[in-house]
Amino acid sequence: MEDRKYNLKEIISKEDIEKRVKEIAEQITKDYEGKELLIVGMLKGAATFLSDLIFNIKSDKLTIDFISVAKYDSKDDTGEVKVIKDLDQPLEGKNLIIVEDILDTGKVMLYFKERLAVRHPESIKICTFIDIPSRRDKDIVVDYKGYTIDDKFIVGYGIDYNEKHRNLQNISELIFE
Ligand code: IMP
Ligand code: MG
Repeated sequence: MEDRKYNLKEIISKEDIEKRVKEIAEQITKDYEGKELLIVGMLKGAATFLSDLIFNIKSDKLTIDFISVAKYDSKDDTGEVKVIKDLDQPLEGKNLIIVEDILDTGKVMLYFKERLAVRHPESIKICTFIDIPSRRDKDIVVDYKGYTIDDKFIVGYGIDYNEKHRNLQNISELIFE
């Protein structure tokens, strides 16, 4: 697998990403004015988007944290997700936004949403940079999103293929030769 040849084709430019992230951040700034806001990023993919997002949110009540799961087989529907890093702070009274790079089947997002909800935060919303609704098999409401795309394998802006290409500043489609 590792040595299969592929090409990268840009589908969202760096400039478009910057513009869109600012728009989402403005919306979040408005929605959470005066409120305690905890932005929770899913490692590793969401780290890049989360950084850009928080630099553009105006709030002095914003904190961040991260959660992480082990690689899993999305075709395995046992509902089991192995948590590598959980949130270890009290969530009572906090408004959470869980941030993902790509919302695909939705399995990991739904798992975390339910896991965090029982700890009584004030609210939980979901934010994804890329939404691929055609691959969804869980019922999830997406509150904030960057782009909706067709069923493609993509990399860049924090998103990887075999851990590579997270440092690409655009979003590219990965096309096998
Ligand atoms: P799911 O929504 O639980 O299936 O998990 C989505 C996760 O799978 C994303 O956060 C990515 O880490 C990974 N993933 C899904 N689609 C792609 C893709 O097109 N490129 C790279 N990683 C992907
Ligand atoms: Mg991910």
